Amino acid sequence: MKDIADHIFDILENSFNAEANEVVLKIAYDKNHFFCSISDNGRGITGQEVLDPFVTTRKTRRIGLGLPLLERAAEDTGGYLKIRRKDEAGGTELEFKINTSHIDAKPFGDLAMTFSDIFLSRPDIGLKIFIIKEGREHLILDFSGLQKEIEEGSKDYLQIRKHIYETTKKELKSINVV
Ligand SMILES: Nc1ncnc2c1ncn2[C@@H]1O[C@H](COP(=O)(O)OP(=O)(O)OP(=O)(O)O)[C@@H](O)[C@H]1O
Ligand SMILES: [Mg+2]
Repeated sequence: MKDIADHIFDILENSFNAEANEVVLKIAYDKNHFFCSISDNGRGITGQEVLDPFVTTRKTRRIGLGLPLLERAAEDTGGYLKIRRKDEAGGTELEFKINTSHIDAKPFGDLAMTFSDIFLSRPDIGLKIFIIKEGREHLILDFSGLQKEIEEGSKDYLQIRKHIYETTKKELKSINVV
């Protein structure tokens, strides 16, 4: 995984694979510290062993690398990765921090592209994306509203994809994630 956008794609994919249909992603960037959290209502992890590369529910190969690689990418910069189960019913909460001024930090990559691609592959997921600016949360993207526009026929997939790309690009730029 070459950049932070690839890691975010992977953790979103983990939520979808765990049958989540409500996913909330939050992003903040302050003084060279990139922070990201994700909360889902999927089946939930069993424990911290998910950070072990040999733990996977994949059917195609026996190792899962997404989380161990993200943990390494974060810790290499003095940051961290935390993951926990919400409660007995399930759900997962994950957060990570990367110090982007560290020599080993990966670049951001194209996050706006990641989000627009995800809408094309999983428009049915209730994904909400917030950015945290000056301590306040701003909702910048809500898939369920966009899905409705598709159903009503007022917009098509390509228009929505462009809309997602342009809005998220602009919003991320406003917190210097470029
Ligand atoms: N949000 C989540 N909800 C439930 N289980 C999860 C979640 N994220 C990860 N897991 C569990 O942790 C395992 C390890 O995740 P990880 O991303 O490291 O590997 P993977 O998704 O199995 O494979 P890869 O990311 O290499 O394609 C998953 O197989 C899954 O069982
Ligand atoms: Mg994964």
